[in-house]
Amino acid sequence: MKVTLDTVFYSNSGDRKILQACLKSWFRNPKDLQFTDPRMSYPFDFRKWCALSYTEENIKTFVVKKDKWIVAHLSEKVILENKQAHLFHLFVDQEHRQLGLAKMLIDHAVEMAEKLKLSYITLAVVHKNQRGISIYKKAGFEENGLTTHGNIKMKKKI
Ligand SMILES: CC(C)(COP(=O)(O)OP(=O)(O)OC[C@H]1O[C@@H](n2cnc3c(N)ncnc32)[C@H](O)[C@@H]1OP(=O)(O)O)[C@@H](O)C(=O)NCCC(=O)NCCS
Repeated sequence: MKVTLDTVFYSNSGDRKILQACLKSWFRNPKDLQFTDPRMSYPFDFRKWCALSYTEENIKTFVVKKDKWIVAHLSEKVILENKQAHLFHLFVDQEHRQLGLAKMLIDHAVEMAEKLKLSYITLAVVHKNQRGISIYKKAGFEENGLTTHGNIKMKKKI
């Protein structure tokens, strides 16, 4: 399967329109939405999604495209003063799972953080999401306590 990896921005209105259409079709499954962002409720509300996570400038979103269609998504927020990157909203389209696309996005995000000479990468994952936890562990993340909402915090030193 030939795919490409691009960077898009929720702050760009063109990118935002495309992402909106894409996410609307992805989040027909409430469990997927819950795993991707436990603060969201079903049915998917794009304005709430943006208001909760994309108001700051320091966020890039990496997307995997197949024939120009977005099939996977991961966002990375860089907090330069902490030398930290935070990953969130990892999602792979149902029909494109088990092909290594999540791994491809995580590896790319790690590479970007390395290029910026950051010290560590953080993320949080719902404790029921064993597949997510296992993918992050394989990528070198370790469990690092719980968030105030009881989700698992993970951290990878660079
Ligand atoms: C979790 C999720 C992102 C995984 O995406 P994915 O693209 O299927 O993940 P990958 O293909 O990179 O890896 C998944 C598994 O496939 C395996 N794999 C990778 N390449 C493969 C290949 N070519 N053939 C078969 N299996 C492969 C990986 O080793 C991994 O194995 P594991 O199940 O033992 O951990 C996806 O299921 C998803 O979007 N879920 C809903 C939202 C969600 O949970 N997001 C994470 C929030 S923290």
